[in-house]
Amino acid sequence: MFKPVVWILCLAPFALLIYDGFTDNLTANPIEKITNHTGIWTLRLIVAGLAITPLRWLTGLNQLVNYRRLVGLFAFFYGCLHFTTFFFFDHQFDFAGMWQDVVKRPYITAGFVAFVLMIPLAVTSTTGWIRRMGGKKWNLLHKLIYITALAAVLHYFWKVKLDATYPVYYGLGVAALLGFRAWRNVARKKASEV
Ligand code: HEM
Repeated sequence: MFKPVVWILCLAPFALLIYDGFTDNLTANPIEKITNHTGIWTLRLIVAGLAITPLRWLTGLNQLVNYRRLVGLFAFFYGCLHFTTFFFFDHQFDFAGMWQDVVKRPYITAGFVAFVLMIPLAVTSTTGWIRRMGGKKWNLLHKLIYITALAAVLHYFWKVKLDATYPVYYGLGVAALLGFRAWRNVARKKASEV
């Protein structure tokens, strides 16, 4: 029911970037601005996607699950824009040069891991794939998002050189969301043993 709202909210940062481009508001360093804007929105949507299930548990609003795939796919969309900006502007689509960066610079390594792990999740996000894989295997594969989230926070943390306040906030957010899931799983297992 709220899908159009989710579409608008998720597309707004992209629209803002286009608007800034047309109104000459991409700062003195447009590439940095585009990379940072798409990077932070990738992270925000990863966190938003991770928050959906705990929010559903806490509120009992089961219909929230209907928005998880959309939010996840938008995270991937911004991740693609972010990576493509880097690959094109920093490396002119030269794979070898880009790979050198991935291998040599730890923050790029972490970002690359985070992004690459999102690819199988995006590919298998359709109902056809859930059917083909079976719920159990599909759920297991989609746990990769936890590694993506942790690698993304590490990427952000290593990237900012002076003030790590925001990466730490995101790190605490991700830790709280993953910790809550782990705690609930253990509690449920214990309850089923009794
Ligand atoms: C899930 C994947 C990723 C996420 C969530 C992510 C997130 C971020 C964030 C939050 C920032 C900093 C934004 C800011 O300071 O305001 C950033 C910067 C950056 N990211 Fe990523 N990133 C990801 C993947 C990648 C990949 C795959 C690459 C390249 C291989 C990459 C390259 C960069 C670069 C070069 C910057 C610095 C831009 C600059 O200062 O000019 N990122 N990213």
